[in-house]
Amino acid sequence: MTKPDEIAVEELTAETAKIELQRLAEDIARHDTLYHQNDAPEVSDAEYDALRNRNAAIEAQFPDLVREDSPSLRVGAVAAEKFDKVTHAVPMLSLSNAFNDEDVSEFCSRIRRFLNLPEDELLAMTAEPKIDGLSASLRYENGQLVSGATRGDGQVGENVTENLKTVKDIPHRLSGQGWPQVVEVRGEVYMTHADFTALNDRQAAAGKQAYVNPRNTAAGSLRQLDPAMTAARPLKFFAYAWGEMSEEPWTTQMGAVEQMAAWGFAINPQMKRCESVAQMLEVYRGIEEQRASLGYDIDGVVYKVDRLDWQRRLGFVSRAPRWATAHKFPAEKATTVLRDIEIQVGRTGALTPVAKLDPVTVGGVVVSNATLHNEDEIERKDVRIGDTVTIQRAGDVIPQVLGHVPERRPADATPFTFPDLCPACGSHAVRDHNAKTGKLDAVRRCTGGLICPAQAVERLKHFVSRNAYDIEGLGIKQIEAFYEDGLIQRLSDIFTLRQRDERSLKKLKDREGYGETSARNLFDAIDERRNVSLDRFIFALGMRHVGETTARLLARTYGTMEALNDALVAASDRENDAWADLVNIDGIGEVVAEAIVDFFAEGHNQEVLQALLAEVSPEPLEAVAAQSPVSGKTVVFTGSLEQMTRDEAKAMAERLGAKVAGSVSKKTDLVVAGPGAGSKLKKATDLGVEVTDEDGWFVLIGEA
Ligand code: IVH
Repeated sequence: MTKPDEIAVEELTAETAKIELQRLAEDIARHDTLYHQNDAPEVSDAEYDALRNRNAAIEAQFPDLVREDSPSLRVGAVAAEKFDKVTHAVPMLSLSNAFNDEDVSEFCSRIRRFLNLPEDELLAMTAEPKIDGLSASLRYENGQLVSGATRGDGQVGENVTENLKTVKDIPHRLSGQGWPQVVEVRGEVYMTHADFTALNDRQAAAGKQAYVNPRNTAAGSLRQLDPAMTAARPLKFFAYAWGEMSEEPWTTQMGAVEQMAAWGFAINPQMKRCESVAQMLEVYRGIEEQRASLGYDIDGVVYKVDRLDWQRRLGFVSRAPRWATAHKFPAEKATTVLRDIEIQVGRTGALTPVAKLDPVTVGGVVVSNATLHNEDEIERKDVRIGDTVTIQRAGDVIPQVLGHVPERRPADATPFTFPDLCPACGSHAVRDHNAKTGKLDAVRRCTGGLICPAQAVERLKHFVSRNAYDIEGLGIKQIEAFYEDGLIQRLSDIFTLRQRDERSLKKLKDREGYGETSARNLFDAIDERRNVSLDRFIFALGMRHVGETTARLLARTYGTMEALNDALVAASDRENDAWADLVNIDGIGEVVAEAIVDFFAEGHNQEVLQALLAEVSPEPLEAVAAQSPVSGKTVVFTGSLEQMTRDEAKAMAERLGAKVAGSVSKKTDLVVAGPGAGSKLKKATDLGVEVTDEDGWFVLIGEA
């Protein structure tokens, strides 16, 4: 007799269809688990798609037989692979770093200068361990946990509410009463050493591979599709910060954390309030001593200004608060053998020597590549192939080779000759002379520009990276493969992929590792990103010297891509006002301005840019505070200010959406002049620019 799974859909009877639907529901569920939870699929995407299609076809024929647990009623497996996105009402920031005592002392001095605190004014700081886990934000409404999200890129995270609910330290309902209507508690999800070891013991007993370290395991556990899987891997949580609050029932950092403890959160018992740099360092050393016996991984100590009114005044630089920093523990080191040196070509053509090492574990992570920085460094450290070398890994940064161990040098250790031709395209690779210092650049660069495949691939990789276009399903691996096959070579090719695929005989869905669903998902993910914000777009272009901060400055200054392009093309004439405007942007120096102007002046870049703009529409930056009376205006501060420091004034203006310029021109909208203002004030009067004093400024922005 023919088995039900071999019968064509049209020939199924109600009875055989019923059996078949049950089999499909079970099979598909099993494959989902294998794929999503175990990372070990047994069937190809195409076979999986075929199962789902068959299930759908049978259901169409026998609508009465659709099962309660039918795969067609669950969110499609691949759609369920994604969590919903959550936009954080208050962005989740990262921290600046301090690596030694001087950095900590400088951190405090900077704050004192910014706030203009007298010597004898107490600057209290909290100090607490920096937990090596992943941050999460928990939203409570009327005391009830309503949603929980990962940090994501800081602006947008993933909704992992159900998974966070399985974490015992996270209350589903706040203790006590009288909480603000909206409370967002933030903190770190982590796994203890004991739980990690127990989990690995279970893995070993089941003949499965061991997990690498507690942090990655915690991250993986939190992003499980099935909350039951998360629950099976015990996670913990420390509360240490907050996001949106309908009111803030606290005035100090310490007070805030104590309040969270009263609401039922676990807070870190090591947290202390310090009244001097000396005390901060003392707490740091104390925590460092206890590091091994804490029972969970930490990678430093976080200091935060205790007074919240000061935190507010200090605000942020880029993605990190001015009022906090992470004092990192010294990097972990190890020795291993250097087997070879490979040259990597970056997106700006820089040739970087990469050490190929015998794999070695450093701080819980297996390292087999490390950077050697540049050719001068190889020479200075006298590192030869065959040497035993010391390597260091600090936090998330790329491991680096510190030097060689002289006693362990074998007789046949070979010095490395740095190539003067690009290994990727054969063009000359040269070291420029720095125009200002006259010195030879440390970095050797490929002169191949657009013909160099390595630069092209790196540019593409940068374009799709997390803080740039961040296209789901289009990562480093896919870019490399698509580039090699000629599918994506220019930036704009990414966005014409679907259209070309429709006409092509070699469809993406037929590629190894793809199926109908995953191909469609990729096209959809690409389409979804056609309208990223202008600052992301500028950053994604990968211009030299243009990181996220500069990209944001440019986006804010010029507003639209069209205005930016026009201005920068015009700026290649140094006599044009456009050049003066560019250099006048506070935060953009001449070197950066030159790199940007050069980029826009280059014909090839214009071709790439215009092809790209035919496919995507970067969205003008939403003014930081659209309703602010100074948003979009260009402001110059001059003379001495008495109620705020110059830095503070600038930060405040920027927070309100204004642009701060260093000198007065026709484009200036407002000059804030304090006592002693000289030529800038005169120029403003001559040009008829509005002038006010510090009090007038506070009245204007509504903070008088
Ligand atoms: S405060 C606005 N405190 O470190 C400041 N962060 O490098 C928000 N982290 O994304 C962070 N322990 O995941 C803070 N005690 C602690 C922390 C901590 C770990 C993580 C957090 C953040 C990252 C920044």
